Amino acid sequence: MKTILYYFSGTGNTLMLARLLAKQLGDTKIINVVSCNDSIVTPQADVVGILFPVYAFGAPRIIHDFINNNLQITDNTYVFSLTNYASAGGPSALKQVNTLLAAKGIQLNAGFGVPMPSNYIPFSGAESQDKQNRRFLVSAEKINSIAKIIKERPEKYFYKKTCIFCFITNIFYRIFMKKCVRDVRKNYVNDNCTACGLCVKVCPTQNIKMVDKRPTWGDDCEQCLACLQWCPSMAIQRKGVPENRLRYQNPGIDVQDLIKDMHG
Ligand SMILES: Cc1cc2nc3c(=O)[nH]c(=O)nc-3n(C[C@H](O)[C@H](O)[C@H](O)COP(=O)(O)O)c2cc1C
Repeated sequence: MKTILYYFSGTGNTLMLARLLAKQLGDTKIINVVSCNDSIVTPQADVVGILFPVYAFGAPRIIHDFINNNLQITDNTYVFSLTNYASAGGPSALKQVNTLLAAKGIQLNAGFGVPMPSNYIPFSGAESQDKQNRRFLVSAEKINSIAKIIKERPEKYFYKKTCIFCFITNIFYRIFMKKCVRDVRKNYVNDNCTACGLCVKVCPTQNIKMVDKRPTWGDDCEQCLACLQWCPSMAIQRKGVPENRLRYQNPGIDVQDLIKDMHG
């Protein structure tokens, strides 16, 4: 069973899940959607997975673009999606993916959700390592059961069938995503900046440029927070967020792997 997993990840959680799943499924290729650029993607596989973090109860803009502009799937391919989130939003995010795929005549056969540590620093800093580890144990177990389901390829499997709050969460998603673009203007750099340029490399939308050895942001922000979270000297800050708030990066992921994946 040849599988291709397309993923998007800001701080490594989704890549970690993709790797765990690939190990369970065998014969699996992992591709960062950022590497697809503007090209049409026609996966030659029995199973295709779309993996992403939940943003404001929905799917990141980059996942919408990937499905709308890049992905072309043949009829007999088994398609599933796997979301991950800090506390809530899996069902509505999957519903978005289902709608986007359906508009292209692609059936979403299965949908899953896995809780992971939060990376949304405007709300809170990273949890203690102990708490993170407990979450990783639970998510690894969930991935084992998800892999078993995918291997069986049931015609329809959704980990939560109904989405009674989807109407409300969709409104919230639209408002949040519009606000996103403006939030990037709250970013600033303090004197810790060493001009290492990691933020430029890790930005999935190439929205950061170095000007006079300082990062500056354009308006094409995905809100993944990768620049802020991976900055090795905690130099990237956001107005309204305490400067010393603990950063989150998935401890099992090397930022260089994330960057390499973005270039295919
Ligand atoms: C912009 C943004 C919005 C988020 N919105 C939600 C949300 O609505 N519900 C939730 O449970 N987690 C939310 N999160 C947390 C992430 O979904 C979660 O931490 C995820 O595991 C991050 O994955 P990554 O490391 O692959 O980027 C949000 C994170 C970001 C950056």
